[in-house]
Amino acid sequence: MNNSDSLLIRAAFKQPVERTPIWVMRQAGRYLPEYLAVRAKAGSFLDLCMNPELAAEVSIQPLDLMEVDAVIMFSDILTPLMGMGIDLDFKPGPQIHNPVQSLQDIEKLIIPDPSVSTAYVGEILGRIRKRVAGRAPVIGFAGAPFTLAYYLVKDEQSKLFANLTTLFFNDSQTARLLMSKLTRMTIDYLNYQIENGAQMVQLFDTWAGILNPSDYKEYIFPYVSEIFASLNKRGEVPVVYYINGGNHLLELMSQTGADVISLDWKTDIGEAKRLIGKKVALQGNLNPSILFCRPDVISKKAEEIIQSYNGDTGHIFNLGHGIDKAVNPQNLLHLVRTVKELTTRDP
Ligand code: CP3
Repeated sequence: MNNSDSLLIRAAFKQPVERTPIWVMRQAGRYLPEYLAVRAKAGSFLDLCMNPELAAEVSIQPLDLMEVDAVIMFSDILTPLMGMGIDLDFKPGPQIHNPVQSLQDIEKLIIPDPSVSTAYVGEILGRIRKRVAGRAPVIGFAGAPFTLAYYLVKDEQSKLFANLTTLFFNDSQTARLLMSKLTRMTIDYLNYQIENGAQMVQLFDTWAGILNPSDYKEYIFPYVSEIFASLNKRGEVPVVYYINGGNHLLELMSQTGADVISLDWKTDIGEAKRLIGKKVALQGNLNPSILFCRPDVISKKAEEIIQSYNGDTGHIFNLGHGIDKAVNPQNLLHLVRTVKELTTRDP
């Protein structure tokens, strides 16, 4: 399959589609018993991330089992930080044993060669492409610099993000050095994924929504825009940008150069379309909790989103955040089949 043949890629570029494509964030994960079985075989979560054969296997599971329209490679946004000198673990939440808390810590961060420090990611993508054999496009991803910074400074004790806020606002030069280094790493890492077969890439800026528009504009926007401007194969490999709680940042998000904006579930997709839909495609945005409901409720809520978007292209159906580990896989399958049924159009 040529990249431009798939529903996902065409929808991302707002080209005509026969129906709305659907995939879900965290679709390769713990709600699937088949994932848990492979995970047990691999050892730890990190062992699974670094085992190309098994990581490719869990990446492909949702394509076969859940009938989604795309495969996202199995990995984590934090794994490339290991190549920068970060000591990382998952339990299952991320644990960073040498957090970055001063200018000296930032100066020590290495800009790695992704083909050395994350060679396993190139291997995973190659294996996925081969095994999927054109049945669906393959999505690569990375964490955005500010969201990586959130985990690097380690703020989990503070609901007010004390470490992150002081690091950024007490001395903006320190913040800029950290953001620049993470930006450089991310550009190289995403280009490495594109070189190795990623057909769409998503940048996860989960935590960017904690800033107001003016701080976002100063501390995040230039770096995210630089990433998108530096990616290879623009116009062929679409880029998606996600923020959780980014309703107040929609216009700025649409100006970063992303092809697709991935919405959380608190944004009305119809309103987002009116605001930024001429410029970008939209991905989303079912509340992930709806997947705990009865099938008829899932159908009704999916239909509301489809009707609110009310267009024939430029929509990629997804959740507003990752699927929860306690969801019954049958409910996701029901969602996927419903979205396919509701959006199939006459040729
Ligand atoms: O989407 C997919 O299926 C691909 C795999 C994927 C994972 N993490 C696997 C994972 C992707 C795209 C991510 C992205 C990610 N990781 C984000 C951005 C998206 C978001 O959720 O906001 C963030 C913030 C992380 C950091 C992270 N990794 C956290 C906070 C956790 C713990 C959360 C939890 O659910 O326990 C992880 C661990 C993680 N990443 C798991 C998986 C399947 C669970 C670990 C396990 O299987 O043991």
